[in-house]
Amino acid sequence: MLLLDFLDFLGRQCGVRKDNSVSVVARGLSHAYGELRSLDSIELEVSAGEVVALVGPSGCGKSTLLEIACGLREPGGGTIEVEGAADAAGRLSRCAYMPQRDLLLPWFSALDNAALALRNRGVGKAEARRQAGELFDRFGLAGFERSRPQELSGGMRQRVAFLRTLVAGKPMLLLDEPFASLDAISRAEMQGWLAGALRPGGRTVLLVSHDLEEALYLADRVLVLSARPGRIVKELRAPDPRAADRDGAVTDPEFVAAREAALRALHAGARREPPAPAVPFGLPEAKRNSSRGSER
Ligand SMILES: Nc1ncnc2c1ncn2[C@@H]1O[C@H](COP(=O)(O)OP(=O)(O)OP(=O)(O)O)[C@@H](O)[C@H]1O
Ligand SMILES: [Mg+2]
Repeated sequence: MLLLDFLDFLGRQCGVRKDNSVSVVARGLSHAYGELRSLDSIELEVSAGEVVALVGPSGCGKSTLLEIACGLREPGGGTIEVEGAADAAGRLSRCAYMPQRDLLLPWFSALDNAALALRNRGVGKAEARRQAGELFDRFGLAGFERSRPQELSGGMRQRVAFLRTLVAGKPMLLLDEPFASLDAISRAEMQGWLAGALRPGGRTVLLVSHDLEEALYLADRVLVLSARPGRIVKELRAPDPRAADRDGAVTDPEFVAAREAALRALHAGARREPPAPAVPFGLPEAKRNSSRGSER
């Protein structure tokens, strides 16, 4: 019942939509950080209400793609539209983005961090706290409402960030490895729970994951990216209908076959020779990355 209440909460509060339109369209999208090409010729269409997972080798541009989708970056070439908006400000206003790092505000309590997205939508402080607070128990955070982020574990911080993203009231959710810092048991639990929350549809989700099982279990479609500059090298439909329980779903023969196909595509894509970085005098990658975040 709690789940139904929660879904109802999402439906009422979070911009659920019911039409069959396309939420995201990218055509010939490319991006580079200076001379370092991160994405190449991305062709992407995500229907409204669809959950699409992106998997690919580390550094292939998955986070960059999410940052472009939600308007934090502009593509170097090609076009992208989210819910009909092509400009960065328009994309930003339509997306709730959960970055790979939790980015909680250290001076806010867990509850106020979770309520931040509601506050940004103009909801009053007490009401925002009430709405976010209702979900603390479900997220295993009950009793930690007043704790500061530095007093929480990595997994708890991630759940606060996730909760904040869910209550943001946007039609498009961008989740960058939402469960990366959870232990295997909490991760499986959260996956099962999120699958239940997303399956009725209505929310469009782009989800980055390193975990093929997670991607195939949570998403309707999985896109496999090559090594940098990331290109989509394979598209897989998740087996449907999936069992309601996660353990049942991931041991289904069709699911196992899809996971193996994804794994083969990942290996083939990872072997793709990345173009030589045109950085003067062979500046090491660590140095190049020191500018990371400069565009944020
Ligand atoms: N702000 C930045 N400045 C310069 N280079 C960057 C910046 N952000 C990312 N890069 C580089 O762009 C490439 C793609 O990075 P991105 O974070 O998109 O990869 P990713 O697929 O999300 O990797 P991971 O799976 O490890 O999170 C990497 O080589 C990275 O070093
Ligand atoms: Mg990333």
